[in-house]
Amino acid sequence: MPVVCLTDFEARARKHLSKSTWDYIEGAAGEGFTKDDNIAAFKRIRLRPRYLRDVSQVDTRTTIQGEEISAPICISPTGFHRLAWPDGEMSTARAAQAAGICYITSTYASCTLEDIVTAAPRGFRWFQLYVQTDRQLNKQLIQKVESLGFRALVITVDVPKLGNRRQDIQNQLNLKENLLLKDLQSLTERNSTAHLQMFPIDSAFCWDDLSWVQSITQLPIILKGILTKEDAELALKHKVHGIIVSNHGGRQLDDVPASIDALTEVVAAVKGKLEVYLDGGVRTGNDVLKALALGAKCVFLGRPVLWGLACKGEHGVKEVLNILKDEFHTSMALTGHQAPPRGRGGHQCEQKAHGVFRPQARGSGEYLHLRVCGFPGVKMTCAARQVFSPFL
Ligand SMILES: Cc1cc2nc3c(=O)[nH]c(=O)nc-3n(C[C@H](O)[C@H](O)[C@H](O)COP(=O)(O)O)c2cc1C
Repeated sequence: MPVVCLTDFEARARKHLSKSTWDYIEGAAGEGFTKDDNIAAFKRIRLRPRYLRDVSQVDTRTTIQGEEISAPICISPTGFHRLAWPDGEMSTARAAQAAGICYITSTYASCTLEDIVTAAPRGFRWFQLYVQTDRQLNKQLIQKVESLGFRALVITVDVPKLGNRRQDIQNQLNLKENLLLKDLQSLTERNSTAHLQMFPIDSAFCWDDLSWVQSITQLPIILKGILTKEDAELALKHKVHGIIVSNHGGRQLDDVPASIDALTEVVAAVKGKLEVYLDGGVRTGNDVLKALALGAKCVFLGRPVLWGLACKGEHGVKEVLNILKDEFHTSMALTGHQAPPRGRGGHQCEQKAHGVFRPQARGSGEYLHLRVCGFPGVKMTCAARQVFSPFL
C-alpha cells in the first residue's frame, strides 16, 4: 500500500529502526503529556472555509527572513540523522534543496557541516546552536557556519538542561558512544568521542549574553523554544530577528502548552515586529493552515522528517515534504486561500477572518474556560477535563 500521509511514514519507520533509536526519536519528557497535546491541540481548532472565491491559482510560496521558500513547511533541527539513514544529514539536505525549503541543521549533526553543504550546495540552510560553555568554541562554530553560507543562527533556548526522557534512561541510550559530533570535535585538537562530554550546553546563558553573539556575527538570530509573551517581549527588546514557538516536540519540559496554543500569545506580543514560526505536532496540511491563520509565518517539522529518512533516505524526506505541501495546497483551496494566510494572532474575530476558530463548547464538557490563578507562570489549577485556553 502506498504511503499517503505523514503518519503512514511513522508506522513504517518503526520497522526500520532499533528499539532504542525509535524510542529516542519518538521520545518525550516526563509523561509525554505535552508531546501528545501538540497534536491534540491542533484538533481542537476548526477551519472556517469560504467558498465562491477563485482558487484556480493557489500559490503556496512565501518568504522567511526575506528569502523565498516553495511552501511554509521547513525542517526543524534534529540531531544524529545517521541513526536513521547512513547518509544522515546529507540526505536531508538534498531533499530540502530539491523541495526549495529551509533546513535547520542541528549542532548535533552526525555529518560534518562541510559534507552537508557539499551534498546540497544550493540549499537554503540555517544553523541551530546549542550555546556551549566554551565561548571560543561558540565563536569558531558561528564563524564557520557563516563562512559556509548558513543564513541564520537559530539559538535553542529550552535546553539549559536535558529534559527527563524516561525511555532513553531505561534504554541507557548513549549517543556519545554511537556517533561523533564531528563539527564540535573538528574545532578542537581532540579526537576521542569521549570528548563530547567536554562540550556542555551553557546553562548560564542569559538574555544579556545575546549581545555577545550579536557582536560576533552578521547572521540574523532566531530564538527557538519561546512559549510566553514575556519572553517574546524580551526577544523583541534584544533585537532578535525571529522566534520559533516550540516546546522541543515535548522532549524538554512536560506540561507546558502545546505549541499551537502558545502561538497566539507570542504572536500578539511581538505585534508584527518580527517573524514568528512554529514547530511541534504539525502532521497535516490543515495543521499548517491553522498555524498560519494564527500568525505563524512558517512551520517546521521534526519527527516526520526522521520517519521519511528512516524509510527511504533522501527520497523519504522528499515524499514527506511533498505530501504535506500537497495537503496544504488542498487546505488552502478548500478554505478559499489563493496565498498562505497571514494571521496576526489577535482577537478571535481576527482569527476567524483568517480562517480558523476554536469551538466554545462551554457546557458541552469539552472546553472550559479557566481563570488565570495561582502563582506567576502558573496558568491554571483545574480539574482533569479542563484545558488551557489561550484566550484568557
Ligand atoms: C530525535 C529528535 C532530535 C532533536 N534534536 C534537536 C536538536 O538537536 N536541536 C533542537 O533545537 N531541537 C531538536 N529537536 C526538537 C525539534 O527541533 C523540534 O522542536 C520538534 O521535533 C518538533 O516537534 P515534532 O517532532 O512534533 O515535529 C529534536 C527532536 C527530535 C524528535
